[in-house]
Amino acid sequence: MIKNDLYIKALKGETVERPPVWMMRQAGRFLPEFRAMRDEYDFFTRCRTPELAAEITMMPIRRYPLDAAILFSDILVVPQAMGIDFEMREGVGPWLETPIRTLEQVQEIEVPNVDDTLGYVFDAIELTLHKLDKQIPLIGFAGSPWTILCYCVEGKGSKAFDVAKKFCFENPEAVHLLLQKITDTTIAYLKRKIEKGVSAVQVFDSWGGMLSPYDYQEFSWPYINQIVEALSPLTHVVVFGKGCWFALEEMSLSKSSALGVDWTIRPEIARKLVGENMTLQGNFDPSRLYSSPETIKKMVTEMIDRFGKDRYIVNLGHGILPNIPLENAEAFIRAVVDWKPN
Ligand code: CP3
Repeated sequence: MIKNDLYIKALKGETVERPPVWMMRQAGRFLPEFRAMRDEYDFFTRCRTPELAAEITMMPIRRYPLDAAILFSDILVVPQAMGIDFEMREGVGPWLETPIRTLEQVQEIEVPNVDDTLGYVFDAIELTLHKLDKQIPLIGFAGSPWTILCYCVEGKGSKAFDVAKKFCFENPEAVHLLLQKITDTTIAYLKRKIEKGVSAVQVFDSWGGMLSPYDYQEFSWPYINQIVEALSPLTHVVVFGKGCWFALEEMSLSKSSALGVDWTIRPEIARKLVGENMTLQGNFDPSRLYSSPETIKKMVTEMIDRFGKDRYIVNLGHGILPNIPLENAEAFIRAVVDWKPN
């Protein structure tokens, strides 16, 4: 049905002529056409206006021969739908005026009807699929419950998310209640995205690596796995846990179709931990895109040779950085498109 289905084939573990490639945060700040829009519309206006979100999703696709598009949106639209009023502040990032720090606050939060609160995302999917015209698949996404909780409790970004961790250890009852409410909302949200026609969904656990392996098993993985269990009968689910290499083995026993890995692990070790039957995605160091196009090409070729062309999706180990030269991003993608077996 989709003309270029390399990404789907890799998720299914089918044999491919070369691995597919896309970049986390490809619909974003490194593109001059995205930055140009910033003067006109603020961040969440761009998320909430289906025409703008669809157009931003297409920006990297028009520039580069990518094998998948990811819907432009943000993980924080889910807590917003739950009545948690995040803003995006210039120079600060995500900002919540009244962070969630008590059981009473958590009890007041409701699991919303996603059609009433997130309809703009579903409309953006419809517009985007029309623009994509079945050329490449569209990926839907959400944050992991733990990562969303981190922002809700901290109220902003953080290096260590120690306020969120403190809340976990002092008030586990409130934390589990909030994680479950986020999980229930996320499942309903992603189900609707799948009905609208995304080809796969990715869960971003950007701050899972802040937890010890023991606490990961209590506060992050069980909730991600609920999402995987609920959605894997419907579509492919990809889990990306930044800094979560310690959990790869456990994750590989789940019904996920693929696991994302950051740049701090060798391909051989990741492969050993997840076994031969799991697709891996990653893991180029995003700051390595500052190297010359020649070096990028050489390193990407080596990375593919080490992961192997099958059951592998080329990507960065985290989102693309804002000031990466356009030609360096192009070198990364071209190295994959032009890759030939030895
Ligand atoms: O990947 C894509 O191209 C799709 C779009 C996408 C965005 N955010 C757009 C965005 C995706 C998948 C996300 C996910 C997201 N959002 C995550 C998980 C992935 C990750 O990178 O770890 C997280 C933690 C967030 C929360 C968030 N939103 C942060 C921390 C920031 C950066 C704030 C800052 O000032 O640095 C955002 C803003 C954001 N989300 C931008 C984009 C393009 C930048 C907005 C701008 O500068 O105009």
